[in-house]
Amino acid sequence: MGEYKVDSEKLEKLASYIEGLDRAEGELINILREAQEIFGHLPAEVQLFIARKLGIPAAKVYGVATFYSYFTMQQRGKHIISVCLGTACFVKGADKIVEEFRNQLDIHDGTTTKDGQYTLDSIRCVGACGLAPVVIVDGKVHGRVKAEDVSAIIKEIGNEEPAEQTLIKQNMQ
Ligand code: FES
Repeated sequence: MGEYKVDSEKLEKLASYIEGLDRAEGELINILREAQEIFGHLPAEVQLFIARKLGIPAAKVYGVATFYSYFTMQQRGKHIISVCLGTACFVKGADKIVEEFRNQLDIHDGTTTKDGQYTLDSIRCVGACGLAPVVIVDGKVHGRVKAEDVSAIIKEIGNEEPAEQTLIKQNMQ
C-alpha cells in the first residue's frame, strides 16, 4: 500500500473492514462512513483506494461522498463548532455568531484553524428553535448565544495547546 500517501496502518484497517463485508460492492455508504471514522475525513487517496478495492470508478465514490453532507473531504479539527443556520437561528443573528467565531479563531479560508484545533461549520435546524440561536460544540448544545459569548465558549472548549493567534485575540478583549 506504499503508493498511497496516507497512513498505511489506517488503510490496512479500512482494507480489513472492506474484506470483512459479504457484499462490499453494495456497501459503499457504510465503507465511506467507516473510512471517515478512521481518517476523520475522506481524502482523495482514500476514495481512490476504496474505488480500486471495490472495482468501481473513482467518480462513483466521489459522487456518493459529495452527495451526502455527512461526508467531508476536509481535515476536521479536534473540536467541532457547529452554528445552526436554520431560519429561527438565522433571524436571531446566527450569521453574526459565525462571523465572531471566524474572527476570533482566525478562520478566513476554509473551515479549520491552521493548527487543526477547531473546525467551524454550519448546520440546519436541530429542532431546538426555542433556544435560538444555537451553537453545538463537540456535541454540547449552547442556546441563546450572542456574539459576546463567543470568546467564553472558545475558552470553555479548553484547548490544551491554543493557537497563538487565539491567545492574542482573547488577551486583547
Ligand atoms: S433553526 Fe436553529 S434550532 Fe431550529
